[in-house]
Amino acid sequence: MYEQISHSLLNEILDELRPEIRRQNIRHFYTRLGANFFGIHSLFHHLYGQREDFKAQTVRLVEVMAQGYILRSAELEERDMAREKDHNWFLSQEWVGMALYTDGFAGNLQGVRGRLGYLQELGINLVHLMPILQCPAGASDGGYAVSDFRRVDARLGTLDDVSILAGEMRERGMLLALDVVLNHTSDEHEWAQKARQGDAKYQDYYYSFKDRHVPDMFEQTLPEVFPENAPGNFTWDEAMGRWVMTVFNSYQWDLNYSNPAVFIEMLDITLFWANLGADIIRLDAVAFLWKKIGSTCQNEREAHLILQLLKDCCQVSAPGVLFIAEAIVAPVEVIKYFGEDAVMAKECEIAYNATYMALLWDAIATQSAKLLRQGLRSLPDKLDRATWLNYVRCHDDIGLGFDDADIHRVGYDPLAHRRFLIDYFTGVYDESPARGQPFGRNLKTGDARISGSLASLAGLETAMERNDEAQIEQAIARILLLHSMILSFGGIPLIYYGDEIGTLNDCSFLQDENKAGDNRWMHRPRINWDKAELRYRRGSVEQRLFDGLKKMIAVRKEIPAFADFNNRELLEVENPHLFAFLRTRPDNINQAVLVVGNFSAKPQYLNPDNLGNRRGLFHFSQITDLCSGESPSLFKEQLVIPPFQFYWLSDRRAGGLF
Ligand code: GLC
Repeated sequence: MYEQISHSLLNEILDELRPEIRRQNIRHFYTRLGANFFGIHSLFHHLYGQREDFKAQTVRLVEVMAQGYILRSAELEERDMAREKDHNWFLSQEWVGMALYTDGFAGNLQGVRGRLGYLQELGINLVHLMPILQCPAGASDGGYAVSDFRRVDARLGTLDDVSILAGEMRERGMLLALDVVLNHTSDEHEWAQKARQGDAKYQDYYYSFKDRHVPDMFEQTLPEVFPENAPGNFTWDEAMGRWVMTVFNSYQWDLNYSNPAVFIEMLDITLFWANLGADIIRLDAVAFLWKKIGSTCQNEREAHLILQLLKDCCQVSAPGVLFIAEAIVAPVEVIKYFGEDAVMAKECEIAYNATYMALLWDAIATQSAKLLRQGLRSLPDKLDRATWLNYVRCHDDIGLGFDDADIHRVGYDPLAHRRFLIDYFTGVYDESPARGQPFGRNLKTGDARISGSLASLAGLETAMERNDEAQIEQAIARILLLHSMILSFGGIPLIYYGDEIGTLNDCSFLQDENKAGDNRWMHRPRINWDKAELRYRRGSVEQRLFDGLKKMIAVRKEIPAFADFNNRELLEVENPHLFAFLRTRPDNINQAVLVVGNFSAKPQYLNPDNLGNRRGLFHFSQITDLCSGESPSLFKEQLVIPPFQFYWLSDRRAGGLF
């Protein structure tokens, strides 16, 4: 669209750019800037247009974009162009990710490089390195309190190590995902230090108040993220003599995005990491970017506008780079982080599917898929060029973020049901084999979340302690069932490091005063590589898990119907223990894979009539499970699904994998 005001401004800005930028031959940059400038200008003006320095800030914004482009290597630019051409590349079923802490996984960045072979053995081709930047030596919220956005934590390595790792990953066909912690900095960050010393420019990078007047107004509606460790949302800073907004921990200062200088700094930092070789940037805690008195300060419209602006600017300088939205919010809200009223993602191309994750855990506890199905019905369809990050566990707690209305609809009382789930996963409930711990218990609201490793939550720890082979078998089946669901659902599956070998809770964090108060550390393991070697010993727990997962990953990559093109149909089967859906080939809806999982400890039956008008696609006498290559058992023409098993079924008459 040609828009006169923004284009005349653009012409003026181009005249004002620093001479060293003007002298460069940056043809592609100008093409993209011209194409995106209307959007960029509208958003920037909407957010900051009332300021006197608006024009100067806009010049600075364009300079940062130009600089980001100029510093991009020829190799990365080539990649950008290839991805522009094949712009749906990330919707393919070929991508399978793992999230890991560098130190816990392999000591340091060089160690991670040395373990790329291990990851490839499993089939991983996307690695999310948890934060690797300089952070306080003491408590740092697992690296999410950053004190220098351009320096790697010396314990992990150097910037060179990152580019060498990124280069080697490119050669191996693997993607690198890194965090940019947009919402806050550590109180040790240079900006915070300068603010402390009274520098007005940097005080304006944060929200601080001389008395409790405004903070108290905020507190009336602002929930607490860490009610046990960091109650309240403001921290008194003695040196500055002011209350600072700290929504997360007291040492994490929230950035003030009503100041355009903050936005421009963070864009610069995002491009810095894109240029170091990150294919994907995980944008941390994006729901919190905009603060408004009288609101929860989450999911505000301006937070979305900031993300749209960041996307538009990045598309000019580094268009091949994708964003992941880490917004652990209600289903109707999370979908908005792709961008509303759009076909292509205009904010983040990828978003954590926390809804699916929490619902899968509900199905494990209840042995029923009732709420899982209901909850997914309430999850709106995603955009065409956008995808989910599907996961079972990650470095954070499990929040039971599904809707009370959905809990009601399936016949449970929300309060009692949530209490049951917490009791189930923390082992208070007698019959539960789960070994989690409550996290973030809020005595005011009665809320709680859950910490614990996948294996321990799925009952493996209890079963091994009892030396009960039948229970061990069951726990392994549960773990594989959960993975089968994220590998087939549509989206990028993100496996959490250690889960591939059944890593149990690790309570050694209690010995470390900087971690003891935060039990999420119980599921942030240090990999025991001797245990990992057991994946080669037939019959070991490690071998059964690793090989089971490896097989699923390999098969997933061969099934085009598992690519994510809104090609999923949930099935309303009558048996409540079963979760079933169809994945159809994007280019032929008459070729489909029937995915079915049995969440109960007893065998269950699937009646072919439940497939409704899709029944014709599957003759149960002709079906094969694509994962095992076997034909599942039938009884009286119904499909029999053993306890905690899953099937990825295709009809042999259709031929081949799809
Ligand atoms: C994100 C991270 C979490 C961290 C929080 C604050 O939610 O995943 O680990 O505590 O942001 O940065």
